[in-house]
Amino acid sequence: MSTQEQLDSVRRNFLTDIESFPQNSKEISELKSKYLGRKGEIASLFPLLGKVSESERPQLGQKLNLLKKELSNIFKEKELSITKNSNSERESSIDFTLPGRMQPNGSLHILEQTLSEIKEIFKNIGFHIAYGQEVDDEYHNFTALNVPEHHPSRDMQDTFFINPEIVLRSHTSNVQIHLMESLDPPIKFVVPGRVYRNESISYKSYCLFHQIEGIYINNNVSFSELKGCLEYFIKQMFGPNKKMRFRPSFFPFTEPSGEVDIWDDDRKQWMEILGCGMVDPNVLENVGYDPKIWKGYAFGMGIERIAMLKYKVDDIRLFYNGDIRFLEQF
Ligand code: DAH
Repeated sequence: MSTQEQLDSVRRNFLTDIESFPQNSKEISELKSKYLGRKGEIASLFPLLGKVSESERPQLGQKLNLLKKELSNIFKEKELSITKNSNSERESSIDFTLPGRMQPNGSLHILEQTLSEIKEIFKNIGFHIAYGQEVDDEYHNFTALNVPEHHPSRDMQDTFFINPEIVLRSHTSNVQIHLMESLDPPIKFVVPGRVYRNESISYKSYCLFHQIEGIYINNNVSFSELKGCLEYFIKQMFGPNKKMRFRPSFFPFTEPSGEVDIWDDDRKQWMEILGCGMVDPNVLENVGYDPKIWKGYAFGMGIERIAMLKYKVDDIRLFYNGDIRFLEQF
């Protein structure tokens, strides 16, 4: 056989093989190594270069390279068409008559829903919303609120200290001070946020919970306005027939101070939901407001308590453990 005939015969065999043989990528790669492999048919033609005359050699070299290129191009096409086919096989195996899979809808956490309702009620009677820091200095969490150093009322709340001066705020009242320090009166704000207390954990207390603080400062704010505001809030939140009561109380930052309880129909007992009072003149002085000109009221309430009463949740810990069976009920 002449060299040309040998080349032709390899090419012919290859064309027959590639037409009939490979069905998948494994078969393709077997065929590829048969022809283009290190010991394949093409490689076995290269020794012919040593056998032809020097003048024929460049031409033969060119032919061999061309043949090699032709084969690899055909392989590439074949590989491409096989992957395409397997994709369309997969597509045709989809059964479009099967019912779809439902994507479950997420929803707002019940505390977030409760907070939105509370904010809405206060917005409707002219309060703005503000936020403040959860890590604060002792001055804003206690001292400026008229809680003197070493005063036993600092122990009323077991506070998490980050260092001797910095605390995780034990109430949202710290934001009263920040607001009054940075704004001129009159001011009217509610401030929602997380607070932290080192309390023993039970059905009604947790180390972290949420409060919403209210503060209103103006020329002639009276205690009866405070009562009116809170009565309005409770009627809006719980309905017009909810039983509530004001009790005298004590907070260093208000004078006089009170607390509001509402009736828990399930437990048949009063449940405390908020503290309130007229802002103590010392607090006004601490932020540079003249107490002869400005008066105000303030209040702070626990959001979990309100959600527990409104939605009949009997354990505060349910709000935090992320159990989908609990969350889905709201
Ligand atoms: N900071 C108080 C607490 O966490 C609640 C409170 C009482 C806030 C009276 C007030 C207030 O603004 O006037 O128990």
